[in-house]
Amino acid sequence: MKTIARFSPALLFLTIIYMSCTEAPSKKTDLTTAVTKQDFGQADGKPVYLYTLTNKKGDQVKISTYGAVVTAWISADKSGAKNSIVLGFDSLSGYLAKPPYFGAIVGRYGNRIADGKFKIGDSSYTLATNNGKNHLHGGLKGFDKQVWDASEVDSIPALTLNYVSKDGEEGYPGNLKVTVVYTLSDDNELGIEYSAETDKPTVVNLTNHSYFNLTGDVKNTILNHTLKVDADAYTPVDSTLIPTGVLQPVKGTPFDFTTATAIGARIAQVPGGYDHNFVLNNKDGSLKLVAELADSISGRKLEVYTTQPGLQFYTGNFLNGSIKTSDGKPINKNAALCLETQHFPDSPNQPSFPSTLLKPGEKYHSITKYKLSVQ
Ligand code: GLA
Repeated sequence: MKTIARFSPALLFLTIIYMSCTEAPSKKTDLTTAVTKQDFGQADGKPVYLYTLTNKKGDQVKISTYGAVVTAWISADKSGAKNSIVLGFDSLSGYLAKPPYFGAIVGRYGNRIADGKFKIGDSSYTLATNNGKNHLHGGLKGFDKQVWDASEVDSIPALTLNYVSKDGEEGYPGNLKVTVVYTLSDDNELGIEYSAETDKPTVVNLTNHSYFNLTGDVKNTILNHTLKVDADAYTPVDSTLIPTGVLQPVKGTPFDFTTATAIGARIAQVPGGYDHNFVLNNKDGSLKLVAELADSISGRKLEVYTTQPGLQFYTGNFLNGSIKTSDGKPINKNAALCLETQHFPDSPNQPSFPSTLLKPGEKYHSITKYKLSVQ
């Protein structure tokens, strides 16, 4: 295992002063951040690596170059016990078995495109269909199933991942160069910064598909977690989960999370469970707090900040126990939930939705931050 520990010169200076002024420094004097790299197997004949970002608090985020997947986010709960608040596996085989996008970067287009078809100007495009008649999360082999290059390891700690999606891949036009930068701050904020450029007009909608369970144990469902979402409307869907085009006010519906509410309180009124895009009140594209998830068992709170206009709230409705955690526990329905910051599903076919078109010369750029604290 290769370890690259980075010191800020000022902190290194302070550490030396501190250590020379005290007798036996306790473990708390470890002021380093670190990024470690280890082999994680092979996919498509390419080596896959697992990086571990460690901050000064000792919290860790593990990221695989396969799918740019966050495989674990390990932190202490209110009693000091450490476990991971996201679903993930500790070996690559778990991911090669195609779990439903656990922790992955999803692209070229997160969520569904109706009938796998869209137009840009007079040109029509047909995408791979992998969800009934629709295209979902980039198709048969989306970004979640590609091996990314980890081009840079930084001192924050941070990890930069690059992937080039070829012209025609899964039916999309244009060579798309994608960069995702993960950072883990010392106050436990996992930052994800997405950038992309194309050489032909195309559509782009990138997100991260982490499944959160703040208790860190899939034996507990997420139905007792409370959620607050800064959204006055959501996008109702048809029977194949394609938005109807309506922006429906949440007031008076089970989709009203404008005040913190237990997820299980009204889920029975939503056939199948929550799997809907919320229209965030964040209209100007600045980085804003849009959602807060909390759990009383662990005392953990997760805040979501984003520049994106939408949030797909998915309550793990299709999980059915057939997939097991690395330590053998079945991952059942509602064992975890996703808060996918994104543009709205099917935007390429919905002229009234914010545009997902990217043209040559333009830069796709978005930021999402998940901030974890213990109360
Ligand atoms: C998204 C979709 C869901 C489902 C999951 C993956 O959240 O909206 O319908 O496809 O991904 O299973």
